[in-house]
Amino acid sequence: MPAVVIVGAQWGDEGKGKIVDIFTERADMVVRYGGGPNAGHTLVVGDEKIVVRLVPSGVLRKDVTCVLGQGMVIDPKSLVSELDDLEARGVAAEGRLVVSDRAHAILPYHVTIDGLREQGKGAIGTTKRGVGPCYEDKVARRGVTLGAFRDAARLRELVGRALEGWAPMLAALGDRGPTVDEVLEAIEPTRARIVKMLAATQPLVERAIKDQKRVVLEGAQGTLLDVDHGTYPFVTSSTPTAGGACVGAGVGPSRIDEVIGLVKAYTTRVGGGPFPTELHDAVGDRIRKVGAEFGSVTGRPRRTGWLDLPALRYAVSVNGLDGLALTKLDVLTGLDEVKVCVAYDTPSGRTGDFPIDELDRATPVLESFRGWNEELGKARSMAELPAAARDYLRFIESEAGCPMVLASIGPRRDETIVLRDPFAG
Ligand code: GDP
Ligand code: IMO
Ligand code: MG
Repeated sequence: MPAVVIVGAQWGDEGKGKIVDIFTERADMVVRYGGGPNAGHTLVVGDEKIVVRLVPSGVLRKDVTCVLGQGMVIDPKSLVSELDDLEARGVAAEGRLVVSDRAHAILPYHVTIDGLREQGKGAIGTTKRGVGPCYEDKVARRGVTLGAFRDAARLRELVGRALEGWAPMLAALGDRGPTVDEVLEAIEPTRARIVKMLAATQPLVERAIKDQKRVVLEGAQGTLLDVDHGTYPFVTSSTPTAGGACVGAGVGPSRIDEVIGLVKAYTTRVGGGPFPTELHDAVGDRIRKVGAEFGSVTGRPRRTGWLDLPALRYAVSVNGLDGLALTKLDVLTGLDEVKVCVAYDTPSGRTGDFPIDELDRATPVLESFRGWNEELGKARSMAELPAAARDYLRFIESEAGCPMVLASIGPRRDETIVLRDPFAG
């Protein structure tokens, strides 16, 4: 009964929501281990589309326990409004959602600072949800954990300390910043509700794994946005890679059975930073349109480009991937040719590695594949895919050196070819 980590192998938005929803059909628990409301994970069931940001993507499976781990940063207002939205759509989550009392609270000043900094020279195209400043507080050891919501006096003290820390930055940004009272007033309407959901989640996850339950550890963002392993400084402030699941949920590496990486059949990125296979032409526009590549959190158009195999090999390595789930293969239907980056030319020669520290001086070497025109959405096995699509998938698998466990050919649950379910048998 495995514990399975699901991670994004690119720059996020690989379709984690859809795939986690599929894999949690047979799961007992789903744990978000990092990030916060910068994530937007889309679930499509029938004609309905639901985007979750903080709540795990397994939430639609009504017997699954949902956990927000201590690696997360949580905006209490966002969480409560997300739960209300789900409730209005007939999804009762609140009774089976457990929130770590060690997770850090995103408070209004985090959002203000994130927004103001994004107006300046150092902008990196964040989601402006306060995620970076909240993690900064955590590492600076002046953060406010959700556990502090239990004790009004403690909460006041911690908010005061954080505001003192931010005062010079706020002044430099030309903002007077909120008072402690203003922050406490903003917290108050959600405080009791948040406190009710709090628990020490690490022992819960450990117990579930010990009891042979099926546990999904749901990543947010993607490998190339990882603060250590991504395209720094154009990254998020957390650890989306598989190691982050251990830290963010409190699970030892020896307890993880399998790591599955999600990869789109092409590449997208939202926000600034290097993107060597980016397309600035009609093909890029077409992929954006057909793939509906607009941010699920901010609505920003996503940058689009060809699949980057050196980057995928890097993700296989950094995460120790056991399997790949290829998503959005259907979006490439109708293209005469599909290109893929197989190597890079760099000042020191041609390499099959991802030259992460010299991407500005590296030129992608592209290989071309013949396209296909058949609609893929109805295929339920590899044999039902057109030969060209199958060849493309098999090429990716072999070049990445990692077996394919799933191919996704549409946003809906049934538009999926499952080659190996980690929870089967
Ligand atoms: P996440 O952040 O990794 O969960 O991904 P997002 O939800 O931000 O973006 C993925 C988008 O692609 C969503 O709109 C999904 O509904 C959609 N999607 C997922 N898988 C597929 C697929 O195989 N084909 C198509 N056409 N859309 C997909
Ligand atoms: P999911 O989980 C895509 C990007 C932002 C920006 C950078 C830093 O839906 O895949 P932040 O707000 O985290 O400080 O922004 O990271 N980013 C994402 N891009 N998908 C996401 O999440 C992202 N979360 C953050 O666009 O470039
Ligand atoms: Mg997303």
